[in-house]
Amino acid sequence: MKPGSHLLSIDDFGVKEADRILKVAKSFEQQLKFTKKFNLLDGHILASLFFEPSTRTRLSFESAMLRLGGSVLTVVGQTSSLEKGESFPDMGRVVSSYADIAVMRHPKEFSVHELCKGAKIPVINAGDGANEHPSQSLLDLYTIQKSQGRLENITIGFLGDLKFGRAAHSTVKLLSRYPVNFVFISHPYLKLPESVLKVVKENGRKYEETDTLKDVVDHTDVLYVTRVQKERFLDLSEYEEVKSVFQVNKDTLISAKKSMSIMHPLPRLEEIQKEVDLDPRANYFDQVQNGLYVRMALLAMLLGKADGVSV
Ligand code: NCD
Repeated sequence: MKPGSHLLSIDDFGVKEADRILKVAKSFEQQLKFTKKFNLLDGHILASLFFEPSTRTRLSFESAMLRLGGSVLTVVGQTSSLEKGESFPDMGRVVSSYADIAVMRHPKEFSVHELCKGAKIPVINAGDGANEHPSQSLLDLYTIQKSQGRLENITIGFLGDLKFGRAAHSTVKLLSRYPVNFVFISHPYLKLPESVLKVVKENGRKYEETDTLKDVVDHTDVLYVTRVQKERFLDLSEYEEVKSVFQVNKDTLISAKKSMSIMHPLPRLEEIQKEVDLDPRANYFDQVQNGLYVRMALLAMLLGKADGVSV
């Protein structure tokens, strides 16, 4: 990823660049064992613009900037001039006067692309509606590589809301570039959109689609569980119908591999029962932690400061 560029979609980087991001992230993970603060981004400011709820994504980007020695400006909720009718391009231009890099989450699909029309600084998409969440997909890739030791010859199961889940969309598209197999497990109403499945097919990856987890759990190396995205449903009675179709619990995992990694972008509701947290295969809190390293790498690289990071 070139310094100064935007990260709006996983189409903004290739396999080689993903590999470099993972290496820089790993270097930060190792260095953080010895030091809490770096001066790599000293004097740089991150504008953190969040118009939808967020815990992990916002805090990990902000923590990443602070750990690298930079500072953070935050807009959360309905406190910006967007509420007065300001356009996204105007906001992008304005934010560029005060910060060196921006990260935005907004419920409207492609709103972040609009922001970029006016922005003069790199912008990272932290989730635009049901569309994409590219930094999540990179930390997912990092987590899979860490738990499985490879990004090839593995079967990855995506479970839950594959229709509205932007994290699943970005991660499926990104993983399609690697020699992996997919299993898509969802209620028929929450199936993966055709546009994302097209990417899987174009890359020649094998995939199965099912609505029954127990038929596939035994040959799944990574089980990526997702929350049913209540906020994207126009009809809440439909949400009520599909919200608790899947619940991963101890019994579900009886036939699963010992080496399986259970992931979730979080927040989780009922789809992973608390009892699973004690299972050594539960990897979602490590995934959260990895978000910090990967976002440190992204900030450093987009600001052109990662060349000296030893990998
Ligand atoms: C995800 C999101 O916001 O898309 N959360 C996250 O960023 N970790 C998934 C979700 O909200 O279910």
